[in-house]
Amino acid sequence: MSIFDTSFVKPWADPEIVQMNRRPMRSIHTTYTDIDMARKGDRTDSPWFASLNGQWKIKRYEDVNEVPASAITDDMKSWTFISVPGNWTLAGLGDEPHYTNVQMPWKGRPPTLPPTVATAVHRTTFTVAKNWKDRRTVLHIGGAESVHMVYVNGTFVGYGTDSRLPSEYDVSAALTSGKNELAVVVCRYSAQSHLEDQDQWWMAGLHREVFLTSQAMIGINDVRVDAGVVRKSLRTTPVGTLGVHVHLNVPHEQKLQRGWKAVAHLETLAGKRVGTAHSVDVPWFDAPYVFAGHVADISWDIPKIDLWSAENPTRYRVIVQLVNPAGEVTDVVPVITGFRSVEVRKRSLLINGERVMIRGVNRHDHHPDKGKAVSVEDMRADLVLMKQHNVNAVRCSHYPNDSRLLDLCDELGLYVIDEANAESHAWNTSLCHDPAYRATWMARITRMVERDKNHPSIIMWSLGNEAGYGAVHDAASQWIRSYDPSRPLHYEGAVFHAGWVDGGLMSSDIVCPMYSTIDDIVAYGKSGDGTRPLIMCEYSHAMGNSNGSLADYWDAFENTPGLQGGFVWEWKDHGLTQCLPNSKTRLAYGGQFGDTPNDGNFVADGLIHADMTPHPVMRELAWVHRPISVELKSKNKDPQLVIRNRQWFSDLSAYKATWELVADGVVAKTGKLIVPKIAANSSAKFDIPVIIPHDAAEVFFSVTWTLARDTPWAPKGHVVSWDQVTLRKSSPAEATIPEASVLPIDISPQVTLWRAPTDNDGFKLMDQHHGGGKSLARWSEQGIATDDADMVESTTTITELSGGAVRYEHTVVIPEEMADVPRIGAMFSIPARFTRVRWYGNGPHECYPDRESSAMVGVYEGKPDELPYLVPQEFGLRTDCRWMEFIDTKKGHVLRVEADGCLLHMSAVHHSAHDLFAASEQAELVRQPALNVHLDIAHRGVGTASCGPDTLPKYRIAPGEYRFAYVVSYR
Ligand code: GAL
Repeated sequence: MSIFDTSFVKPWADPEIVQMNRRPMRSIHTTYTDIDMARKGDRTDSPWFASLNGQWKIKRYEDVNEVPASAITDDMKSWTFISVPGNWTLAGLGDEPHYTNVQMPWKGRPPTLPPTVATAVHRTTFTVAKNWKDRRTVLHIGGAESVHMVYVNGTFVGYGTDSRLPSEYDVSAALTSGKNELAVVVCRYSAQSHLEDQDQWWMAGLHREVFLTSQAMIGINDVRVDAGVVRKSLRTTPVGTLGVHVHLNVPHEQKLQRGWKAVAHLETLAGKRVGTAHSVDVPWFDAPYVFAGHVADISWDIPKIDLWSAENPTRYRVIVQLVNPAGEVTDVVPVITGFRSVEVRKRSLLINGERVMIRGVNRHDHHPDKGKAVSVEDMRADLVLMKQHNVNAVRCSHYPNDSRLLDLCDELGLYVIDEANAESHAWNTSLCHDPAYRATWMARITRMVERDKNHPSIIMWSLGNEAGYGAVHDAASQWIRSYDPSRPLHYEGAVFHAGWVDGGLMSSDIVCPMYSTIDDIVAYGKSGDGTRPLIMCEYSHAMGNSNGSLADYWDAFENTPGLQGGFVWEWKDHGLTQCLPNSKTRLAYGGQFGDTPNDGNFVADGLIHADMTPHPVMRELAWVHRPISVELKSKNKDPQLVIRNRQWFSDLSAYKATWELVADGVVAKTGKLIVPKIAANSSAKFDIPVIIPHDAAEVFFSVTWTLARDTPWAPKGHVVSWDQVTLRKSSPAEATIPEASVLPIDISPQVTLWRAPTDNDGFKLMDQHHGGGKSLARWSEQGIATDDADMVESTTTITELSGGAVRYEHTVVIPEEMADVPRIGAMFSIPARFTRVRWYGNGPHECYPDRESSAMVGVYEGKPDELPYLVPQEFGLRTDCRWMEFIDTKKGHVLRVEADGCLLHMSAVHHSAHDLFAASEQAELVRQPALNVHLDIAHRGVGTASCGPDTLPKYRIAPGEYRFAYVVSYR
């Protein structure tokens, strides 16, 4: 016998069966017994909460139809253990993670299932406390991929879908007084999978927490808190508006006695009351027709309120008490809230009336060891790192996260786009019109809103991602507009399929394209057309060495009406820790688990590595997002600085500033910048507080801003902003001829055009149908990959100078048909004893011609870079170097290269371009002892062609003659 009579009812195969016996969605909250406990807010203190997280027993079956009924109840001695929350695809049970982007892992139109549906029975036991008797016991399953069935003591209690939202079941009737057996049967795939086709690993299991709560038979089921703001004008003090809606559970066969009251008050997080408590009777009158539910609505205004924003995330606590007719408090529920307004007006998204720029990133749940089962600490670590890089917004791409992520966004200050778990990418244009999927679509969207309604951090609801555009979207959006008029809507599909100017107005209040070119968004902005602001839901694809032109995007966002920022794709690489037969581990990408079909390393397209190490671009990201900028106003005799406060709600009192005067690479003077208070979103002029030295050829002035006090996301002293302005510039100097000894090594520089292609140049691991950049294919066809500089005319002139130094001069001619090569430069190797690199040029971090705005000119020193990207490719460049030195620290010897009449881009790493290109993963890469030095007169920008626009023409290498020279000396 199998668990169901599956000849007829196969819920996993039927998209119309969205749930069975599941309770309606509500906010995630805890019920306490007294105010002190509620104020503390530790749910484990509540007698009505019991976690079921921990070690469960698990057994995996090849197919759902093979699961015997005995698996629900019988002895489990031979079963293995699994952590809940956890993904069984990471537990060595026979199912591996599977990565696909657009395509489904199997063929066939929805609702086709794969030939077998791997299924795992998860089992645990629990006892319920004595005082839970005569109450309702609710089982909460935070998230199960893909669909699940729940059994308590062998009784089927329900079925749930939507792997990224909780399902709750009233299990009271199935409980026994002693030990209870809980079995959750999870199918890895289902008919619902066609609507969960996001670009990520397909996993499986109970990846979010599982817990029980106990509810009084007459008790609070849900609380909705609407905290808003009204103000007559920007100059008047905002008035907080508060609506508290207390939904009671009352058994339907029971008539509510008169005299129940809901009492609510507002307090600060420290527990200080704000105003008085408000009390209303719970409507008891339940005559047909007039009955409006046992919902107590309380609303009042708060004359003086501190607003919530990402900059100042001031939160308040609403305490709701339920009082029975005898005057006893039976339930206490705390809800954390924040007062803010969000609206779209005249092509602007206004938060608290201000046109805040969205400095956002797209975030998936991902952990290299835990897969989708991220902990609160993991989520906090993500968000803290975002805040440290001046990110002010997160798009929950592409599904609602564990609601504790939203708690953290409320706390730390991040604007959130909460997105429904609805992506039908493989069946992009058809599935939204399929009536069989209508109910699940509506459920996914409405249940998200119902769960997350109380979070001040959520500024927009998103209907999903890459799921076409149809009536079901407009229906769901009308439901949201009616249920929650306080937040605008976001849906890329609406504007993609129906048009930016006036398409999809019903389902999207913003124009939220992905990967559009700068020219296209600027044209929209300048046209003045339409009523909606343009905020890019995805841009600047961060795959490998990428994010070229980030600063160009920001120049457009900040200087074009109607443009208001965007969300970089994406936060983190999804590399997964994989143990190899040789007992080594690697961070794996698609295909490395034997998963076919797959989309290779397209899964690794984050700003940070899967292990949280920031990629070099994070400096550029922090810079384009910086809260304060410093520019030079005039370059005349008395130059002035313009300091701009790029925040919307705060002056600069949270920061301290220091300056440095850099003259010919030497820090000539430093000081503290005494800045007057500059109001939010305004600027002030400032005299340069130091005399500019007359004898220096080039002079730079740098200002660095740090936190003046500790914050929840970074300690005092953390650098938030920096800028460097050029006070004097000269044409590149001629090399000086230093006192030197004869070069002890023959460096024999070779002219080269080749770089190890980046992911944006083309996907070396995937065939052409995967799209992406076209440069690699062109370079291979031209022969650059193999013949390199033999393809073009070049000369090298070597001149021995007095004192042992040697001057090298190269000319390279790029004919028309070879335009747009990877680089033009020279390359040589030096022995391993040169363990440190010092340079005078842009730094300190890796930079490229189209990703160097955050770099500052200076003298820097460090170890040679190690590959920061998952798949080997070009890395480690520093642009515009005047000179560079390679240091043998043991003997104190220095090999110096000085650019002669030019600036050179430089890299020095332990890999050659050819080795980097040949390797498909880090393990294949052998670190050479020698340092490979590149000196480039031109280097192609990195662009974002892996998904989005290619390198802008101004950062490509034009045909023509290139001449560059440098002097190599030794001391
Ligand atoms: C978008 C999609 C993302 C991701 C990205 C490329 O089309 O919304 O989920 O696939 O492209 O990495």
